[in-house]
Amino acid sequence: MFGDLFNYRKKVPFSSFVNYALYSKNGYYQGESKISRNGDFLTSPSISKIYGYSIAEFFISKVFPNCKSSKISFLELGANTGVLMLSVLEHIKETSPEIYAKLDIILIEQNSRLHKEILKNLKSHSGVLTVSSSIESLKDIDQDGFVFCNEFFDALIFDRCILKEGILYQVNVEQKENTIIECLDVADEALIGKVAEYGLEMREDFYFELPVREYEKYFELLTDKFSRFVFLINDYGDKSNWFHSSPDPFGTSRCFFEHEVSRDFFNNICKQDITCDVNFTLLSLSAERYGLSEIGFFSQASFFLISEIANLIIKLEQNHDSKFPDDIKKLISPNLLGEKFKFIIFEV
Ligand SMILES: C[S@@+](CC[C@H](N)C(=O)[O-])C[C@H]1O[C@@H](n2cnc3c(N)ncnc32)[C@H](O)[C@@H]1O
Repeated sequence: MFGDLFNYRKKVPFSSFVNYALYSKNGYYQGESKISRNGDFLTSPSISKIYGYSIAEFFISKVFPNCKSSKISFLELGANTGVLMLSVLEHIKETSPEIYAKLDIILIEQNSRLHKEILKNLKSHSGVLTVSSSIESLKDIDQDGFVFCNEFFDALIFDRCILKEGILYQVNVEQKENTIIECLDVADEALIGKVAEYGLEMREDFYFELPVREYEKYFELLTDKFSRFVFLINDYGDKSNWFHSSPDPFGTSRCFFEHEVSRDFFNNICKQDITCDVNFTLLSLSAERYGLSEIGFFSQASFFLISEIANLIIKLEQNHDSKFPDDIKKLISPNLLGEKFKFIIFEV
């Protein structure tokens, strides 16, 4: 029961539990993908191809003109089954074949059980394609790069903390018979150190999530591999100068199971997603430490505007099925994904 989660310690940090539930041998993100209408949740690329087209347009009009090298590494992080990369490449190949010819395409997906599906989905690009489980296994890249990801940072593991009467506590978990329960303990030195390093504000009795060590890991890995790149990140959340980025004292951590949201972390273990909002202020401060400069921050709705895809939407609407306008609405409407999701762009 619970694999080796409690083999070495009776109590473990919340982040170790999330790591077990999502990334252990039988973890949620090690099985087949549940990102679908019949699965647990949808993401923007699984709603409509137009999402990928907007990233393609952004690359063609805003990133490519500043690329100097003859080839460009074109990398997606957390690619799942490759649906997003497929729509991005489809649009670049169709509208700008001369740019497409310069791309070295790389998909990073930790779940190697999905690699066959990625290769199948992207078979029309197979000559220029690398699929890998980790950034570490790539060789150093000495040409310009464009890295993008959707809902990658919200899938990383995180700790949960709370300040009470001036003392920082962390959520730990322990096994009680056949289930897991939470307890609060004074935070360990490493967590206290991270909170002090980033120095955002804390409100007493408000839980907050702390995934910052994971953020640092991926910025470090990418800046080790690439000397020049633009990094486009899309995720849910917002900027906040507070560690907690929502008015809810519980924080933003939650589970997704069959399109229902809950806070039942210890039900359906390994069968449901566990996630939290991205605090883009924290993300940006973390990126800065590795030499990345923030060059843009937009809501998803505004990103669609700056990518100038309005004409494309009108053109596509005439050829698509009746679901198309509804799907576009989901991606752009303020109370659907349009304002909940943000794009942040960094460059080195
Ligand atoms: C929430 S899903 C998003 C999938 C896809 N980007 C989308 O928008 O539909 C997160 C994906 O990131 C992958 N992932 C998580 N951690 C990863 C890591 N360290 N390296 C590569 N992929 C990772 C997961 O396996 C999963 O496929």
